[in-house]
Amino acid sequence: MGSDEVTATEESRSHFRQLLAIGATASVLGVALGLLIDWFPTQGSEQAETVDTVWDVLIIASVPVFVLVMTVVLYCVWRYRMKPGEELKDGPPIHGNTRLEIVWTAIPAILLVGLCSYSYVALTDIEEAKADSLEVRVVGEQFTWTFHYKGPGGKDVASAQLYVPRGRPVNFTVQSLDVIHDFWVPAFRMKIDAVPGIDTHLRITPKTNGEYPVICAELCGLGHAVMRQTAHVVEKAEFDRWLQERAAGAEGGGEETGGGGGAPGGKAVFTESGCGGCHTLADAGTSGGTGPDLDEGLKGKEEAFIRESIVDPSAEVTKGFSDGIMPQNFGDTLQPAELDALVKYLAEVTK
Ligand code: CUA
Repeated sequence: MGSDEVTATEESRSHFRQLLAIGATASVLGVALGLLIDWFPTQGSEQAETVDTVWDVLIIASVPVFVLVMTVVLYCVWRYRMKPGEELKDGPPIHGNTRLEIVWTAIPAILLVGLCSYSYVALTDIEEAKADSLEVRVVGEQFTWTFHYKGPGGKDVASAQLYVPRGRPVNFTVQSLDVIHDFWVPAFRMKIDAVPGIDTHLRITPKTNGEYPVICAELCGLGHAVMRQTAHVVEKAEFDRWLQERAAGAEGGGEETGGGGGAPGGKAVFTESGCGGCHTLADAGTSGGTGPDLDEGLKGKEEAFIRESIVDPSAEVTKGFSDGIMPQNFGDTLQPAELDALVKYLAEVTK
């Protein structure tokens, strides 16, 4: 062995050590950054903690792999790049290194099997059926969600707002009336497709009181982006009161509820039903552009026309807008008193 070759081996050993040091440092930085970034919204359900832990474990397992590979690639591109005059200087071909091949097959295999088993156990744990679950039927359609509850006496109670009591397991049965949608509450960390003709299920236990966005996570048509509503996590007593009021209102019509705290404000109905997501209305300070501008479109219109436009939006579609984008179910999800208040309010502010 000539002295030249000895020097070459020593040199490549020192390069290898440098490479390892750079890769290790970059990995530690990458993992630290991945764990420090606050990726997710509030943990609204008990399941959120498990999901966030899975995420952290994935970061710890995958960032070093990515960083190490990138470090080696970039280092080699820089260190062993072809310099002028070296065009014909190619190293000897290398093939057949059994030990190396076993190692680079075994490590990814162990990593994959380990991570898959861990995620599987976490998911099974999350999806376990629990006793005394609250049943909520979620129905998706272009372009809104409707939430159905079993009210007093087993009567169906429908709502455009999702209410769930803190601490009680909820079993969502998810359905679709038309195309595939996807029921997603990021704060709960769980999502599932709403598929026509099939019941899908999703279980969570609400943990933190608050209001969280409900989002459609499957491209479902022109109004997909505005297929957003609100999930309210509240105390059990408040939930029971809400459900009872909702059930009473659906049966009786507005005034008969009596002692329910007066008629709802039309402006509040407008805001809570998410009308502003699609419609511009100066009085409510909204600027949505998916549906007609209400300040212009409803100017001087009768209350009867406004009511029809809400309950049966296909009856007369404003020029320049497509039929079928406005949800057809406001007649069901709004209570009579709410609808009255909304119509009155719109007539007043667009006079
Ligand atoms: Cu429904 Cu996207």
